[in-house]
Amino acid sequence: MRIWRGALVVVLWVAAVSNLTPLPAFASGTDSLDDISHIHAISVDKTDTQRLYLATHKGLFLVAPSGALQHVSEEPDDLMGFAAHPTDPQVFYASGHPAQGGNLGVIRSNDGGETWSQWARGAGGPVDFHTMDVSKADPNVIYGLHNGIQISRDAGRSWEIAGQPPAEVFDLAASARDVDMVYAATRAGLFLSRDGGRTWTNTYMPQRPVTMVHTSADGNLYAFVYGVGLVAASEPVLAWQTVSGDFLDRFLLDIAVDPANSAHLYAVTDTGAMVTSKDGGKTWISFEGSNSNTTEVTSRGQQLFEANCQACHGVRGVGENPNDMYAKNEYGFVAPPLNDKAHAWHHPDSGIADTILNGSPRNERMRPWRETLTQEDAQALIAYIKSLWSFRSLACQGVRHMRCM
Ligand code: HEC
Repeated sequence: MRIWRGALVVVLWVAAVSNLTPLPAFASGTDSLDDISHIHAISVDKTDTQRLYLATHKGLFLVAPSGALQHVSEEPDDLMGFAAHPTDPQVFYASGHPAQGGNLGVIRSNDGGETWSQWARGAGGPVDFHTMDVSKADPNVIYGLHNGIQISRDAGRSWEIAGQPPAEVFDLAASARDVDMVYAATRAGLFLSRDGGRTWTNTYMPQRPVTMVHTSADGNLYAFVYGVGLVAASEPVLAWQTVSGDFLDRFLLDIAVDPANSAHLYAVTDTGAMVTSKDGGKTWISFEGSNSNTTEVTSRGQQLFEANCQACHGVRGVGENPNDMYAKNEYGFVAPPLNDKAHAWHHPDSGIADTILNGSPRNERMRPWRETLTQEDAQALIAYIKSLWSFRSLACQGVRHMRCM
């Protein structure tokens, strides 16, 4: 049993990292984060740092913390590689392959991602960069991965193959300090080149799969090391620290740092869930609703929980009978755990709010609370309940739960 579960985790991991899973189609009128399964890269909107650009299998989106999703570009191309200009909020580079096949080469947008045109074919192109990054030290220097490490020193107009990268690169990040320094997250570890991609050395121990690497404008370096967690270091002296190891079997595929507040991080998980951290990556909450989900709201939710719900659902939501969550009494099943030991996380926030306000149709003990609690109270309760969940439950909540079984 244990072996099978391990094998499944590896399969899911391989599928997610290498984007081999078949993708559920979704309509062009997508307006929910739940409908987006493959986010390849994220980037903070510099004109409104609460919003994020999402480069996905179906083109480019902007998402606000309310969860509202906006299709930025009509072009539905699979944007595999995506990189924002470090200072100009209107300029983006991308690469990938169009829906009808072939490769995009290097494409560029000068209008915030709305329209795109081919900017260069790349060396031996048209290329299909699966990862690319613009140097924050000099925006004229861009790195991409296609038949080797490619580099442009003229803002993406001309490209040459700099060298061969280590095997199985998942992500590239250009140094924020030195145009010739570039990092590669690979299945065999985190590598650094100091000569523009020609030669590489391992730069993090232990050597484990590294699913993403990101440099922030202020010279911080983040990487996700599978089995270790989120690690960070400052350039140029890489004294690594583990920021958080609480990810269980889940992992991060990309990170973006709020340029207005370096403790404010955004990330996309291997399940396609968007999460955010307000303390530099130590603790994470769901991105959706994160603006209104402050620590004050969570502690108000805790008070409401202790006053109204704890009598049945137990202290910190352990359930009425933590030893047997399926125990029955004269009313049917006992009140289930609301931490992540039972199934509360299988429901999206809207489903949990519905149960709180309208009660359970199956068990009259879970009565409708709408007479005494407002929608806002329900949101505060949900913020508290979710604060009891592991990262796995956050990443696997709602429609994604089947991917985590
Ligand atoms: C009198 C006992 C009782 C109280 C008080 C109570 N609940 Fe429940 N709750 C239950 C029972 C029993 C169920 C199981 C319902 C079912 O099986 O459909 C339940 C189910 C739930 C569920 C669904 C869990 C799941 O896994 O799908 C949520 C969410 C929930 N309660 C939240 C709350 C909140 C929030 C409060 C306080 C405002 C609260 N409950 C107060 C007894 C109670």
